Amino acid sequence: MAKIVWIDGNITPLEEAFVPVTDHAYLYGDGIFEGIRFYNGKVFKLDEHLARLYEGINYLDYHMEYSQEELKKIILETCAASGEKDGYIRVNVTRGTGLGLDPKHINLKPRVMVFVTTISLYPPELYAKGLDVITTSYRVIPSDSLNPRLKCIGRYAANILAKMEANRAGAGEGLMLNQVGNLAECTGDNIFIIKNNEIYTPHPSSGILQGITRDTVIMLAKELGYKVHETTLSKYDMVTADECFLTGTAAEVIAVATLDYRKVGAGPDGKITKEILKAFREHTKIGTPIPYSGDGLLSA
Ligand SMILES: Cc1ncc(COP(=O)(O)O)c(C=O)c1O
Repeated sequence: MAKIVWIDGNITPLEEAFVPVTDHAYLYGDGIFEGIRFYNGKVFKLDEHLARLYEGINYLDYHMEYSQEELKKIILETCAASGEKDGYIRVNVTRGTGLGLDPKHINLKPRVMVFVTTISLYPPELYAKGLDVITTSYRVIPSDSLNPRLKCIGRYAANILAKMEANRAGAGEGLMLNQVGNLAECTGDNIFIIKNNEIYTPHPSSGILQGITRDTVIMLAKELGYKVHETTLSKYDMVTADECFLTGTAAEVIAVATLDYRKVGAGPDGKITKEILKAFREHTKIGTPIPYSGDGLLSA
C-alpha cells in the first residue's frame, strides 16, 4: 500500500513528510490524535472520531484553523488519494511551533497531519487463540492530572512502557490498573467481561479512554439483548469472568485467553465474544463513503 500523508495542505509520500523540530508535540508531546479505520471504501465512525478530536482540541485550547467539516473532507480526500479500500488513518493535531512550554511564546498555528496506511496490531493467529495479558506495573495517569478522555500524544509514554513490560513477559497485551487498583484498560484497548450472560466494562470514571469501539460494542450488545454494566471492576472480576475481550480501533474485538498466566473463562471460544465479534464485523460495513472519483484536493 502506498503510504501517503496530508500535511500543511499537501499530499506527499510518507518518506517526504517532515515536521520542524520545534513542533510542540515533538518537544513536549503537546498534540492530540485519532486512529480511524476504513473498511471497503467507507470510513468507520468518522463523525464520532472527529467529535472526540474536536472536543480534545477545545479542551487543549488549540487555535484550530479547520472546521470539523473541513477536516472531514481532508481525511476523505486523503483516503481517496491513497486509492485503497481498506486501511488505517492517523490524524494528528499539534498546538504549534516554538521552543518553551509557555504557549504565549510560540506560533500557535496548529500543525495538522493525516496519514493513511495499513495496520495489523496483532498477528491473525492471536485472534483465533486469544491474547495473553499481564498486569503491568504502570497505572493509568490519574484523571486529575490528565483527563483520560483526552487522546493526547504525551500521555502515551506510560502506555509504551507498559507495552514493553508486556513484551518482556511474552504477553500480547498489558493491563493498566487505575490509582486504586481497579481495572482501567490495556495499553491501547478497552476491556469487556462477561459473567452470567451479562456484560461488564469499566466505567469511564475508572480512568479509561472512552473508546469508540467500546461505545460501538455497548450499542451492539444492547441491540443483541444483553444487559451492559459500566461499573467498577477488579482483577478478581477479570480472572473469574466467563469470557473477556478487548476492543479498540486497531485491535477491533479480540478475546483474552489468560490474565497473569491464568486462564480466563472460555477465551476465544466464548459464545458471547463470538456473537459480538460477528455483529461488529457486520457493523463495519456502515461508514462514510470515500469519494474515490475525486474532485481535486482541498488546498490549505
Ligand atoms: C489507551 C487506549 N484505550 C482504548 C483505546 C480504544 O479506543 P478506540 O476504540 O476509540 O480506538 C485506545 C485506542 O487508541 C487507546 O489508546
